[in-house]
Amino acid sequence: MQQIAVIGSGQMGNGIAHVFAQSGYQVKLIDIQQGALDRALETIARNMDRQVSKGNLSEQEKADALKRIGVSTDLKTAVQDADLVVEAATENIDLKLKIFNDLDAFTKPSCILASNTSSISITKIASVTKRGDKVIGMHFMNPVPVMKLVEVIRGYNTSQAVCDQIFELSKKLGKSPVEVNDYPGFIANRILMPMINEAICSLYEGVAGVEEIDTVMKLGMAHPMGPLQLADFIGLDTCLSILRVLHEGFGNPKYAPCPLLVNMVVSGNLGVKSGQGFYAYSKGSKDLVVAENFRR
Ligand code: CAA
Repeated sequence: MQQIAVIGSGQMGNGIAHVFAQSGYQVKLIDIQQGALDRALETIARNMDRQVSKGNLSEQEKADALKRIGVSTDLKTAVQDADLVVEAATENIDLKLKIFNDLDAFTKPSCILASNTSSISITKIASVTKRGDKVIGMHFMNPVPVMKLVEVIRGYNTSQAVCDQIFELSKKLGKSPVEVNDYPGFIANRILMPMINEAICSLYEGVAGVEEIDTVMKLGMAHPMGPLQLADFIGLDTCLSILRVLHEGFGNPKYAPCPLLVNMVVSGNLGVKSGQGFYAYSKGSKDLVVAENFRR
């Protein structure tokens, strides 16, 4: 497996392209807008600079890795030689079904089709292809170059051989893969999102403030970020859509999203990406400042 195509050049897609290129694979990064691809290449170079400055990557390795990344806005031609496609488009089921339907037509029959979805059913995605045995979940964590986990999700028809290949490939990327079955939220988000939702409900009910809730989890449980900061980092719209998948998929009210989360998403307060969530973010500043609505 040598030729990798990555669909979607956002936060996850550019991180996935980064780790494949750094591990010696030829990568084609695909998006519908050239501007998004240009920004992704800048982000990858900047993130590699962090590794260079820490001595984890040489200037030469960085230059070689960047050379291995090509970009394209034309899905059909960009995936025709791919051995593996990793889809990291927006978390929207209709969009993903359209992409996988196209991929089934445009890729060679041996190509493995992976999705980085955080909660959408792999079995459902596979159902629009004629190669359910070769469709699999490859769920990276953000920031991709730093986080060690790849959650490998086995759809109902995914073959053992394909699971084994993706497991070995993840190890070659320096990651630690874990195999899980295809049920709502898989494992990562089935456990993470109820915790985040409970933190938001605690804030909504006035049990404690933003900083207090995050401090309890950072200092009390040794989490690198508190749940509210992590929700901002993931994106509140993404958190809401995952909670809706859990709520619908299990039909259990314990997964119902907190009304405060719903209001924040509806009002466009999406966390880091919109500049405002539980905290307020300003470019160039690393200071964590509680958003005005939540100041006491
Ligand atoms: N690319 C490359 N390197 C990066 C990076 C990136 N995008 N982001 C951070 N780094 C590196 C830094 O250079 C630094 O390197 P050293 O350890 O060698 O010094 C290291 O990562 C730590 O970064 P910082 O010093 O800037 O900041 P930090 O210590 O506060 O750590 C963090 C930042 C790694 C993000 C840390 O806060 C953390 O682990 N947070 C939790 C992240 C998490 O839980 N992610 C999973 C989210 S859930 C998900 O992704 C799945 C889903 O489906 C929703």
